[in-house]
Amino acid sequence: MKPVKVGILGAGGFARAFTPLFKAHPLVRAVSIAELIPGRRREEAALAGVTEAYGSLDELLGSDCDAVAIFTQRGLHAPQAIAALRAGKHVYSAVPAGTTVEELGELVETVGATGLTYMLGETSYYYPSTIFCREMWRQGKFGRFVYGEAEYMHDMSHGFYQAYQHSGGKNWLRTAGVPPMLYPTHTVSMIVSVTGARLTRVSCLGQVDQSGDGAFGRGLNPWDNEFSNETALFRTSDGGTARINELRRVGHWGGRSVRLSLFGTEGCYEEQPEGDVWVNRSREVTPLNDLLRCVPVAEGDRKAAGEPTDSTQHDFYSGMAPVHPIWRLPAELASRPSGHHGSHHFLVDDFVRACTTGSLPPNHVWAAARYNLPGIIAHESAKREGEVLPVPDLGDPPAGSARLEDFLAKLSPAKPAWNLPKPAYTGQPWW
Ligand SMILES: NC(=O)c1ccc[n+]([C@@H]2O[C@H](COP(=O)([O-])OP(=O)(O)OC[C@H]3O[C@@H](n4cnc5c(N)ncnc54)[C@H](O)[C@@H]3O)[C@@H](O)[C@H]2O)c1
Repeated sequence: MKPVKVGILGAGGFARAFTPLFKAHPLVRAVSIAELIPGRRREEAALAGVTEAYGSLDELLGSDCDAVAIFTQRGLHAPQAIAALRAGKHVYSAVPAGTTVEELGELVETVGATGLTYMLGETSYYYPSTIFCREMWRQGKFGRFVYGEAEYMHDMSHGFYQAYQHSGGKNWLRTAGVPPMLYPTHTVSMIVSVTGARLTRVSCLGQVDQSGDGAFGRGLNPWDNEFSNETALFRTSDGGTARINELRRVGHWGGRSVRLSLFGTEGCYEEQPEGDVWVNRSREVTPLNDLLRCVPVAEGDRKAAGEPTDSTQHDFYSGMAPVHPIWRLPAELASRPSGHHGSHHFLVDDFVRACTTGSLPPNHVWAAARYNLPGIIAHESAKREGEVLPVPDLGDPPAGSARLEDFLAKLSPAKPAWNLPKPAYTGQPWW
């Protein structure tokens, strides 16, 4: 396998957590950085120990990198990914994949036409809860899908104002009022990546923001968006239903802010702030905390690994949970802190291995469209006070594509490396 050279596009807070992982991967021969802001470019390159730095996407595309990893502001990803693919580069993209139906259509077309690797860096895909549910689904333990609910609760006061200020420059407030449903991939992917069904129709309602913070409201942002909270109910292609919450003004504690519950005819997974359980029709109740909790990364360990310890980046660094398939990671990655509930390592490894093996990563562009389009249409429905709208679909990967999962399965015969714990009790609860 020929190692790849990766160009990091956008040296903001999120890229800072990923650049060291790309650098550490044994199948990455070199890493470069492109960043528009000169001071930030110098600082982040020095922090990451990267010596090759560029001032624009065009300069990066003119260089000899094989792949571009996009960590720019959320509205820029699809056009930049399309430009990179057209320049012959593989693409890793932070979420979202795109923010309009049209640009997602063009992205899918471009990936199909170029035959290059495109992967969405969807952190929720490797959350312990999602990994657990995918395996229970594969084993048939859920039975038929009934209902799923996923939510991303992130109050604006919990780091979002600072993040938008860092991202948006002097006009940052105009970017902060983005419709919550234009950032739907964390939640939608949790359900869609487990059951494999699509979200086909939607009715969504929004809540008009009352805070007066100047971000949400008619005429205040490019989307003319007044909703800081949006709730959508979807029909799924397997006959079930799914509820997605994207909440940005909510008195929630801020921990475990992306979460999932999934209900089947035979068994259910419920994620609660203080404990996750597997329950089934035989009335067995199995607490999952030991299996699904990530080991926290101590500040000392982060410093020792050369990671920044800025408290606003709390989510960006975490350990792994027993449910994570650590066996598949190169040792050079496994020894470093991960982030977002252990997901970062797997995303980097998926992408690099997909590029070097020519196989399709799980979060390929067709999956990315199925994570993304439901939110775009949901926001349209919210603007029409819940009118039921069809969600378009951009199809499946080409038949016969080699899949990365098949390649990884050959790396270890012992899969999964965990068993469902014994039920804590059977029958009605004491209360
Ligand atoms: N859990 C997750 O998946 C997760 C978490 C955090 C952020 N994100 C995503 O990551 C992305 C980056 O977030 P962030 O907080 O680091 O943003 P940021 O604004 O701090 O960083 C983006 C950087 O990209 C640079 N940039 C933009 N266009 C460029 C260009 N053409 N050439 C070179 N540089 C360019 C900007 O100057 C900026 O420094 C966002 O899209 C966000 O949605 C995802």
